[in-house]
Amino acid sequence: MRSVDKDTITEAFLGYCHADTDPRLRFVLERLVHHLHDFTKEVGLTHEEWRKAIGLLTGAGEISGPERNEFVLFSDVLGLSSLVDMVNSPDDATPSSVLGPFHILGAPDLPVGGDLRKDNAGAPVIVRGRIIDSTGAPISTAEMEIWQTADNGLYSNQDPAQPDYNLRAHMTVGADGVYAFTTVRPAPYTVPDDGPVGELLQATGRHPWRPSHFHFIVTADGYRNLVTELFPDDDPYLDQDAVFGVREGLIVHYRRKDTIEPADQAQVAAELTVPYYTVDFDLQLSKTA
Ligand code: BEZ
Ligand code: FE
Repeated sequence: MRSVDKDTITEAFLGYCHADTDPRLRFVLERLVHHLHDFTKEVGLTHEEWRKAIGLLTGAGEISGPERNEFVLFSDVLGLSSLVDMVNSPDDATPSSVLGPFHILGAPDLPVGGDLRKDNAGAPVIVRGRIIDSTGAPISTAEMEIWQTADNGLYSNQDPAQPDYNLRAHMTVGADGVYAFTTVRPAPYTVPDDGPVGELLQATGRHPWRPSHFHFIVTADGYRNLVTELFPDDDPYLDQDAVFGVREGLIVHYRRKDTIEPADQAQVAAELTVPYYTVDFDLQLSKTA
């Protein structure tokens, strides 16, 4: 197309794509460019606004490296990461939630009932449940990765004062699908807000806080991987998670126990002290097609 105008530019873009372009790529790009062009016309995007947006993206590139990806963080605070999770979450599984940047490979094995708390400060908690399929049957081959912040709201890889792999574990469940571990209650924390994402949050009067949470990745042969989080029902940031990760089905109650219940003690290796809390949650996986 030689003479492109604002009514034909979207069509012209499509015409430039080679006929051999992968059909899915062509479809996704066509819809993306369609919405981008419509958006530009709808808001009457000015050169100054366009330069500002490019400046934010350039800043994101400059601040990003092996330890930090500001583009993912933009996706998180704009709700894009959570929307991708929701669009791809099967109905017959526990809802998924954001992975976040603090997961690391190689966490040590922890037996079912093992202790993650060690010398960590904070309220002692037993987290437990079963890994089940959509009929409620246990999945005996399931494995899980667990990671969380310490009581100060920092992950081990953000805090030189914590030992390597503090509050992180890999667990393999038995035939009953049961998982259980003792730990401490994690704390709410802020997403990194000293870069372009922080600038955007500030310009829109938003705070950078996330409600406290446990992270899990659950895997089992024949099932779709589940990446998810659990949030306490009394967290002050439950209704305003900076990255939109909270789902009704991921909210748990910390039950306070002021006397040691023998059934609780029998389930974990660490010696319980009062008060402690219990969190019960079954993680449900969906079969692969
Ligand atoms: C996290 O939960 O670890 C997280 C998720 C998104 C952005 C920053 C942190
Ligand atoms: Fe997190």
